[in-house]
Amino acid sequence: MRHIQDGSYVAINWNHIEDELDKATWEKLTQQFWLDTRIPISNDLRTWHGELSAQERDVVNRVFGGLTTLDTLQSQDGMAALRADAVNQKEEAVLNNIQFMESVHAKSYSSIFETLNYKAEIEEIFDWANHDKFLQFKANRINDIYQKGTSLQKKVASVFLETFLFYSGFYTPLYYLGHNLMNNVAEVIKLILRDESVHGTYIGYKFQIGFNRLDEEQQGKLQEWMYDLLYELYENEEKYTHELYDGLGWTEDVLTFLRYNANKALMNLGQEPLFPDGAEDVNPVVMNGISTSTANHDFFSAVGNGYLLGEVESMNDEDYQI
Ligand SMILES: [Fe+2]
Ligand SMILES: [Fe+2]
Repeated sequence: MRHIQDGSYVAINWNHIEDELDKATWEKLTQQFWLDTRIPISNDLRTWHGELSAQERDVVNRVFGGLTTLDTLQSQDGMAALRADAVNQKEEAVLNNIQFMESVHAKSYSSIFETLNYKAEIEEIFDWANHDKFLQFKANRINDIYQKGTSLQKKVASVFLETFLFYSGFYTPLYYLGHNLMNNVAEVIKLILRDESVHGTYIGYKFQIGFNRLDEEQQGKLQEWMYDLLYELYENEEKYTHELYDGLGWTEDVLTFLRYNANKALMNLGQEPLFPDGAEDVNPVVMNGISTSTANHDFFSAVGNGYLLGEVESMNDEDYQI
């Protein structure tokens, strides 16, 4: 976007709002600001060593390794790519906020790793993430679109990543939360999920504005591209899910959850769902994990620095739906 008009570098004026949703999103995102360092992850150490099998711990580590890659992509390339197409300065400011929170998300997995694993194990996780064929395929496929795609294609890529691809990873902590296990780790994930829910809605909304300006033929072409991309990503995600979850026997449940979230991604983009799967098809333990209220109601005040950083509301279905 152009910052210079008639030779002047234009100051951002929040008293002149072009689109109310920019302001509303800024307010929501700043209200729900959080940091990984404020969640007592070490409270899960006993469960980690005492209740989870070595195989389960390995799956948790890998899914979080995968999520680290995707949040790194969002923080380093995704939001920068979207920001280049921002239609006003407030949208740029919102994307700045999102970009920083993506760095918080990416870092929070390292906080989890640091608490639960030894150094050599952590190195193994990153080595796995940096070389896993299916994980690398999706990260590179999405990044290609960020680098070479049109403004609308980039928004589709971002929404597919955040509302669809993340969920093969989110499944595991939500499953444990549904069983009342690893609650503090799940708290981190739910804070991430709550952010992603706003990001997906906001970027999906920006997509719809542009999409509605296209003529019918252009819309048809873009829809064809979008559904092809979704299929391609889903096919890869099937392989990724088998690789991660076959050992635990969770694959089919994860795939149902993925299809349900793929439909949500399409809804964010104002498009028709592709898969028949609805909320009622998802493993109720996972849905239960999503709707469980926060484990640490007062963790912000518990840090003892004398001021309340922000009210962290519990995650509820409504947040998840937006
Ligand atoms: Fe994120
Ligand atoms: Fe995001």
